[in-house]
Amino acid sequence: MRQSEYPIEPLILNRWSPRAMSGETLTDEELLPLFEAARWAPSSYNGQPWRFIYGKRETDHWKALFELLVPFNQSWANKSAVLVLVISHKVFEHNGKPSVTHSFDTGAAWQNLALEGSARGLVTHGMQGFDYEKAKEVCRVPDDYQVEAMIAIGKKGKKEALPAEAQEKEAPSMRKPLSEIVMKGVFT
Ligand SMILES: Cc1cc2nc3c(=O)[nH]c(=O)nc-3n(C[C@H](O)[C@H](O)[C@H](O)COP(=O)(O)O)c2cc1C
Repeated sequence: MRQSEYPIEPLILNRWSPRAMSGETLTDEELLPLFEAARWAPSSYNGQPWRFIYGKRETDHWKALFELLVPFNQSWANKSAVLVLVISHKVFEHNGKPSVTHSFDTGAAWQNLALEGSARGLVTHGMQGFDYEKAKEVCRVPDDYQVEAMIAIGKKGKKEALPAEAQEKEAPSMRKPLSEIVMKGVFT
């Protein structure tokens, strides 16, 4: 059981990244609300630089995304219902100038997606273990967009069905203490 230093919204404390998924598919009615949640994230100038390229497991798009994953991620994400490539627009649409916060903003959108998924009892699991260059090619990502991460989404599955290495990790993790991440005025 996770313990926070101060009481916070249970949705935030209880979200975590399981790897055990059932292999069932998701309908649009189950999936699209997660992107809807992402849509409402805050962003610099309300630029909304996030984009989500997804493939459902019953499609070739899923297979193409799955092939980009490193072997460890493939070992558990093979039961995901949906794989999502998260990209961000590096320039502002309103003036064409570089955005310094495109990744920051897109991180907020991913967190919204993850919280909505958690509230709905779904697994959402971020991944950086994949071939970023190939992802650009395979998903035809334009040059003014940056590949940020992938997300595996699915219905919950049984821990016992995971490969041994993933099974060992299948528990909510703890966090650094507040005193280590919050500083008064200057870096200490
Ligand atoms: C951007 C990002 C990339 C990640 N990459 C991977 C990955 O490639 N493989 C993996 O098994 N977990 C990956 N994770 C999951 C993290 O290890 C996990 O979020 C972290 O340990 C905190 O645990 P929690 O999400 O359960 O609270 C990633 C998470 C994020 C947000």
